[in-house]
Amino acid sequence: MPHFTAADLAQLEKVYRLNLVNAITGFKPANLLGTQDPAGRTNLAIISSVVHLGSNPALLGLVMRPPSVERHSYENIRSTGHYTLNHIHAGIVKAAHLTSANFPREESEFGACGLTPEYRDDFQAPYVQESYLKIGLTLAQELPIELNGTILLIGRVEHVYLPEENVLRPDGSLHLTAAGTMALSGLDTYYETTPVARYGYARPHQPLPELPL
Ligand SMILES: Cc1cc2nc3c(=O)[nH]c(=O)nc-3n(C[C@H](O)[C@H](O)[C@H](O)COP(=O)(O)O)c2cc1C
Repeated sequence: MPHFTAADLAQLEKVYRLNLVNAITGFKPANLLGTQDPAGRTNLAIISSVVHLGSNPALLGLVMRPPSVERHSYENIRSTGHYTLNHIHAGIVKAAHLTSANFPREESEFGACGLTPEYRDDFQAPYVQESYLKIGLTLAQELPIELNGTILLIGRVEHVYLPEENVLRPDGSLHLTAAGTMALSGLDTYYETTPVARYGYARPHQPLPELPL
């Protein structure tokens, strides 16, 4: 089987290595990060590194690339303290990918990519109107990762907006396939999902409770 050691990885051509290492974690969530500067100029960027850090308080992390070049989302989050995450579905996947292009600061990816900023409940960051599942966050902590200059941004969940029907189950879990939420691998491939099984709380030496999908 193909095998790469750390020394092999270090010697790979840059794009090959980037493609490989970005895919080895498995499928990742596909989100659009919505921000604005203090003057209200909006920004949108696709982000695959969102991770759950805890439920009480509800905290989400995301990894920002090193701010060695202009990072508009990062600058906006630092200056306003607010940002949104918006799930990507098939209807907006092309526009979502396009947000990763290097647009100049004064050009909003919303307009350039054909997506609509939406404001809710006086929150100081734009949501994506076309997205079905959206989260508003306040920056709670920044953790610089000294090994490579990336930054773990930790946000406290302030708002969660869900679609009207068929997504929120009675126990609080979410049927993300019904919401059209996509997954992504590497930096380039998007997937619709098919649920395979759903299990209840696991206990040693007891049959797993099977839950309806
Ligand atoms: C599929 C995909 C996933 C990405 N995930 C991240 C990520 O998790 N963190 C990050 O900093 N950039 C990520 N990027 C890159 C940003 O989308 C890109 O740098 C964007 O231009 C940032 O825009 P900004 O300068 O307006 O903030 C990703 C790009 C793609 C195509």
